[in-house]
Amino acid sequence: MTFTTANHLDDALRAYHHPVDERAGEIARAAIRHLYAFVEDVGLTRDEWFRGIQFLTAVGQLSDERRQELVLLSDVLGVSTLVEMIDQRGAPGTTEPTVLGPFHVEGAPRREMGDSIVIDDDPGPRIRFRGVVRDVAGAPVEGAELDVWQAASNGLYDVQDPDATPMNLRGRFVTGADGRYELVTVRPVPYPIPGDGPVGAMLRACGRTDVRPAHTHVRVSAKGYRQVTTLLIDAGSAHLDTDPVFAVRESLVVDMSGDTVDHDFVIEPVTPPGNLDD
Ligand code: BEZ
Ligand code: FE
Repeated sequence: MTFTTANHLDDALRAYHHPVDERAGEIARAAIRHLYAFVEDVGLTRDEWFRGIQFLTAVGQLSDERRQELVLLSDVLGVSTLVEMIDQRGAPGTTEPTVLGPFHVEGAPRREMGDSIVIDDDPGPRIRFRGVVRDVAGAPVEGAELDVWQAASNGLYDVQDPDATPMNLRGRFVTGADGRYELVTVRPVPYPIPGDGPVGAMLRACGRTDVRPAHTHVRVSAKGYRQVTTLLIDAGSAHLDTDPVFAVRESLVVDMSGDTVDHDFVIEPVTPPGNLDD
């Protein structure tokens, strides 16, 4: 009897059926099933397979602790957003999660409520973001930390710009008992994600733009609550419909044409382990 691709798939799946780590086995088997289906679906040629290997090699070679081309690949395929949607999924009414991106830096300076995060000269118009961090029932959350970061008007984050002061346009703000937050920044601008590597080449080959719509990143955390990594996106920005990393959500698009944006962040308590059977 001729050995078929279906027999081959069965063999491969069987080989991964007795893992030491059950979850590793489950993931490997699912990856094999989907990869085999993909190869058969597109009728992948040997040449194309090898070009794929060369592409992934180049993506890996460009990745280190400063530049993560592999994460960028995951971002532009929409996988990063998919993982956040599944892993950070909150109850209805909670702030929608999106991508963290490669430009978040841990340890941004703590700032006073109402402070500006603009350290360097910047020609962009100043804009005030303010609102309340609250739970789904509307109660303010005390002690919530908003970690805020964005690119300057030249389209660069401080970590990309040798002329920028470290921590320019970054700051952490902690809410008081009223749950209120307030900060000043510059109106964000659209900017290109790193396009000089294999992922940029792939985007261009596929006819996609590398320019993200104007946005400010916000990560909201509070003890006992599910953390949410999200964005405020400028409703007047170009590229809202073509975000290369698929992170635009209607609920996060706000009018930044004036000098103030009012926007609440809604987070939910983490269910303590053991409550499931209560
Ligand atoms: C960002 O918005 O900072 C970003 C997200 C994903 C890939 C590149 C940049
Ligand atoms: Fe960004």
